Amino acid sequence: MDSIVIHGGLPLRGKVAVSGAKNAALPILAATLLASGRHLIHNVPAVQDVKTISKLLTTLGARVTELGGGDVEVDTTGVERFQAPYELVKTMRASVLVLGPLLGRLGKARVSLPGGCAIGARPIDQHLKGLQALGARVELKGGDVSVSGRKLKGTHVYLDMPTVTGTANIMMAAVLAEGETVIDNAACEPEVETLAAALNAMGAGIKGAGTDRIEITGVRTLHGSEFTVIPDRIEAGTLLVAGAISGGEVHVTRCVPENLKAVTAKLREAGLPVEEGDREMRVTGSRPLRAVDIKTAPHPGFATDMQAQLMALMSVSEGVSVITETVFENRFMHVAELKRMGADISVVGNTARVKGVARLSGAPVMATDLRASASLVLAGLVAEGETTVSRVYHLDRGYEGLEKKLAALGARIWRLK
Ligand code: EPZ
Repeated sequence: MDSIVIHGGLPLRGKVAVSGAKNAALPILAATLLASGRHLIHNVPAVQDVKTISKLLTTLGARVTELGGGDVEVDTTGVERFQAPYELVKTMRASVLVLGPLLGRLGKARVSLPGGCAIGARPIDQHLKGLQALGARVELKGGDVSVSGRKLKGTHVYLDMPTVTGTANIMMAAVLAEGETVIDNAACEPEVETLAAALNAMGAGIKGAGTDRIEITGVRTLHGSEFTVIPDRIEAGTLLVAGAISGGEVHVTRCVPENLKAVTAKLREAGLPVEEGDREMRVTGSRPLRAVDIKTAPHPGFATDMQAQLMALMSVSEGVSVITETVFENRFMHVAELKRMGADISVVGNTARVKGVARLSGAPVMATDLRASASLVLAGLVAEGETTVSRVYHLDRGYEGLEKKLAALGARIWRLK
């Protein structure tokens, strides 16, 4: 298992480009199952989760070809299998994203129930509620969920909470259903909006994606497509925090500032000047850093996927920051590791109280989940001495060569195989 070693204390300076969004690429690749033909997807990030879903699509009968430079061709003509095996699903719960497309394309799907994961139970009851509302039969047996239904009928679904992949699954199942479907209390994340755009590029009839009410007019068939994945807003936010925490100046390019408004607002509240261009942002890591309170929420609220990274930043701010995690029930695993580095954090329920300290000290720490890993790397950038983050396979799931990007900005950081 690889580790990443960081020697802290160096301010990062320079320009860095953001890769394609993992959480947009995964549903878009799954959506190609809906349309028999050739799909060309650009700006796909070279991350482990994309490799996993590519393997899954191949298992189902698709042909996936990496053309280089982030271009991936998916030929779904040969898709005829409808089962997503446990050995793949257990490594990536987002495999559940093939439920909707397989149901729409083949009239059936069987996916090993995604276990919970480090950050929470992460049930899929809303996904299943939506598919059932479209007329699918749902059966839970032997650790698998099976859905079946030849002719789905448009319906009205009101989600109990704005689930991102739940909205994606229901939208994908509805595009080939007969008639109109409305999803209310839908997730508004940019990744949902871009998935709808990708489906429309295949010939679907979707309106309102990106708002909490999505309207889908069923069509008879879909066709091959060409589409470009949006930049990863969480990677962009992580790189901005790297500039901020290291006291340098980082210029993030190929990003969409509009998709990071809540994070940018918090960085500015903390006293950090953030400049925005059309497709770029620049942060100056000025001091003193003011402690700010953060409460995660569904988009356009503060992204839960940026909570761990801001906690690392608040660990070296002046004052007390109260961070409340409202989306997942167990997303504070980075706290114990940050405390090993000298952070002063106390957790009660879903709230962490972070009292800024003058400095963190490098230490051996362990990654527990994707964004916790990023948080520990960020803390290592500012800590005195050497930090070794182990189990960085968590990081590799969602970041394309993060340590290389940080090294190019002047960090003393390298990977230990
Ligand atoms: C997506 O996960 C992202 N993953 C997550 O990113 C992200 O943290 C999350 O959305 C929230 O923004 C992908 O897009 C692949 P949810 P998802 O369904 O869809 C509860 C990362 O770091 N819920 O919006 O699984 C659920 O338990 C990952 O890149 C139900 O109760 O998240 C959670 O508490 C981590 N029943 C809340 O809703 C359901 O049927 C939000 O979950 C579905 C969800």
